[in-house]
Amino acid sequence: MARILVTGGTGYIGSHTVVELMQQGYDVVIVDNLSNSNAEVLNGIEAIVGRKPDFENADCTNYVEMERIFNTYQPIDGVIHFAASKAVGESVEQPLMYYRNNIGSLLTLLEIMHVFPTKNLVFSSSCTVYGQPDAEHLPVDENAPLKKALSPYGNTKKINEDIIQDAAYADATLNATILRYFNPIGAHPSALIGELPNGVPNNLLPFVTQTAAGIRQELKVFGNDYNTPDGSCIRDYIYVVDLAKAHVKAIERMLNVPEREQVEIFNLGTGRGLSVLEIVNGFEKATGVRVPYTIVGRREGDIEQVWAAPQKANNILGWSAQTPIEDVLRSAWNWEKHLRNLS
Ligand code: UFG
Repeated sequence: MARILVTGGTGYIGSHTVVELMQQGYDVVIVDNLSNSNAEVLNGIEAIVGRKPDFENADCTNYVEMERIFNTYQPIDGVIHFAASKAVGESVEQPLMYYRNNIGSLLTLLEIMHVFPTKNLVFSSSCTVYGQPDAEHLPVDENAPLKKALSPYGNTKKINEDIIQDAAYADATLNATILRYFNPIGAHPSALIGELPNGVPNNLLPFVTQTAAGIRQELKVFGNDYNTPDGSCIRDYIYVVDLAKAHVKAIERMLNVPEREQVEIFNLGTGRGLSVLEIVNGFEKATGVRVPYTIVGRREGDIEQVWAAPQKANNILGWSAQTPIEDVLRSAWNWEKHLRNLS
């Protein structure tokens, strides 16, 4: 079976993807410096799959280390590159660290892939590249215009997409799939792996589950005066396991479909937008647990509404997000309970 190198494989989306890859029979080598994840995730993966992935504690910006890893595990049939810093606010405060990490790691990988026989790259991008799409571009498809990024983090995604396009133009043997994620939420149904937010969560779902668990007093809903049906922002929340499965489809396509385009881009979302209040109410309904909240002012830099047109991924990758939102919200709660030893 093919071997896939997964950078950031102990992180949130990475770990779920490793599980799906291994369950489909792939051999996986994780490269992660554990800067925002924990080696215990490897035990969770093993408990789910029944075997451990190979693991290398290394920084993807380090050429010498990465070269050693590529030499050790040849043949490597594909790379899925998750490893990146991802906190929007932190990126505003420490832009150079974000540019160094997020761009340096991709450059290192591409330089190595240029000289090794590994020629298939899947890259984690984000719907952040669309900014706030104009009304005629909602739901947003892959041809919608890209907007200036609102944060250094967002800009690293845009720049990395450009770097991949340029590298592929110069090297006809390099294949890439760029996956633009909408808002990943939830956890594996086993509750053995999930999201491990660092400190006070920035993202909605970890804040909701921590509030439900009593760790936070109340959720702050950032704004109810947006031009949306209930006034709160709208996003396309996609189940992390569905998202992980899309990566397996992307790899399968790169390995088996020679007539694909050299660089392909897919939006990964459900096609359905949900408001912050719909998520909170949906969570309470799905779990029976109350989430106290107050409405506060808007959060700087928030986009009012965005959701995906996922038809390209549906048709070409043969993938769609199918898990009902109630199940997804319950999975997030089960994971929080597992983390806190709640029954
Ligand atoms: N929200 C709250 N209260 C909170 C946290 C979030 O009301 O405590 C709201 C936000 O205002 C937003 C929605 O919940 O309307 C979702 O917020 P998240 O922070 O979970 O997600 P974002 O859409 O803001 O950010 C996500 C990713 C970023 C990425 C961005 C754009 O987390 O990495 O999408 O692609 F840059």
